[in-house]
Amino acid sequence: MHQKILILDFGSQYTQLIARRVRELNVYCEIHPFNHFPEPDKSVKGIILSGSPHSVREKDSPRVPLESFYAHAPVLGVCYGAQLIAHEYGGKVEKSKVREYGRANLAKVEGKSELMKGVKKGSQVWMSHADTIMELPEGFRIIAGTADVPVAAYKIKQQEIYGLQFHPEVYHSTDGLKILGNFVYDICGCKGDWTPGSFVDETVEGLKKQLGKDKVIMALSGGVDSTVAARLIHNAIGKNLYCIFVDNGLLRKNEYENVLHSYKDFGLNVIGVDARERFYSKLKGVSDPEKKRKIIGGLFIEIFEEESKKIKGAKWLGQGTIYPDVIESVSVKGPSATIKSHHNVGGLPEKMDLKIVEPLRTLFKDEVRRVGRALKISSEFIDRHPFPGPGLAIRILGDITPEKVQIVQDADDIFISRLKKDKLYKKVWQAGAIFLPVQSVGVMGDERTYENVICLRAVTSTDGMTADWSHLPYEFLAAVSNEIINKVKGVNRVVFDISSKPPATIEWE
Ligand code: XMP
Repeated sequence: MHQKILILDFGSQYTQLIARRVRELNVYCEIHPFNHFPEPDKSVKGIILSGSPHSVREKDSPRVPLESFYAHAPVLGVCYGAQLIAHEYGGKVEKSKVREYGRANLAKVEGKSELMKGVKKGSQVWMSHADTIMELPEGFRIIAGTADVPVAAYKIKQQEIYGLQFHPEVYHSTDGLKILGNFVYDICGCKGDWTPGSFVDETVEGLKKQLGKDKVIMALSGGVDSTVAARLIHNAIGKNLYCIFVDNGLLRKNEYENVLHSYKDFGLNVIGVDARERFYSKLKGVSDPEKKRKIIGGLFIEIFEEESKKIKGAKWLGQGTIYPDVIESVSVKGPSATIKSHHNVGGLPEKMDLKIVEPLRTLFKDEVRRVGRALKISSEFIDRHPFPGPGLAIRILGDITPEKVQIVQDADDIFISRLKKDKLYKKVWQAGAIFLPVQSVGVMGDERTYENVICLRAVTSTDGMTADWSHLPYEFLAAVSNEIINKVKGVNRVVFDISSKPPATIEWE
């Protein structure tokens, strides 16, 4: 069992960030809600208590059995976590005179403290709190302070219990990673040996034990998560993994052929299903975006089910679920943890009596990419832009016809190929061509034409939740526009979307 840090979540917006930073230090950690966590075992080397929108001054604010933690491993309280420890020991936590939010600098640092080792006076920290620790209990020692917040960090004498009023996990805390490193390495004694390579070895070993000679079925999408998950399972059980890759006719140009080919090159046991006509015929005349999504989702499940039934004796369903899907679905307030159900392929697991195997359920997206690289999966998969499940259906505004699909595929291919050629692809989070449901006038020779308009969409983002339009060079846009108008029959106008999210969205439907 790998060494780990347990992070207890009191509902702070930054809890995931604590986990990401600890993992950047190559230390494995898990987030659990404060009211629903596994009893710490020997593998738990340290416990971090997160921040919270609550105040320890509220009677029913979140509490945890601190005494049992202290007996088990070193504890670090961050913001609310620090206030909670101080409060429980009889310290004074009060509402701040002013809300302390944003950058501050440490005016005092006790360099001898193991937690603050290497942190210099003046170091910038990120504050975000409405309460302040005004008085520390007996036996507590201040180890850092700012001009406005005398108790910015403390330690309980003779015990490995620490509190930080600021957020070391936020990038604006310039020595934050150093402080977290001091905690996990020097105070908790973690080795820092949780690397993509070790993850692959341990996971494959674990999967071998878990799956034995059982058969696993899995849907592949060409995206990074399902590809990496399939490779891990494949490395464990080889041909007993049966992958299904469906062409819904709404993929990018040549995507189905290329991806299927690459999967076969990996040695994956993959069944390709050409279901284009079935999708087109069900989508005929449908313009409402939500209806399109429902039809595509429903038909996909139908086809996956038909194919799965052909694989006799399958016991498991493999899925590319990743950590944010797991923790986002665990409610801090609710009494029990429930996992998002939409990641399951319809009701298939119940219907076919399949158990679920999810080798990536402890990883963040960037970690999936690192693991993918450790598995030597090509950059073509690892660095691929996100692509929506309903595919080009939500990039063709209005009803869908095979002709429109071909136009948008050709325009998209020109756009994406040029992004790659001009080394702009990796600077963009996501890009594509949109088919607009209008026709515009143009001239070709002496004739006036009414033809289609293609809109180019490219955004920068870190998580898809917010996004800015990509400021692509004019020369680049001019070249793409020329090539589309010259080569794609039926298009006489190209426009570029300059809206950010919010208030716009990335997709047009
Ligand atoms: P929006 O358009 O909401 O997109 O800004 C955010 C991200 O989600 C993707 N997206 C979808 N993905 N099914 C999916 O699997 C969908 O119905 C869907 N709609 C949007 C979008 O491509 C972007 O990455």
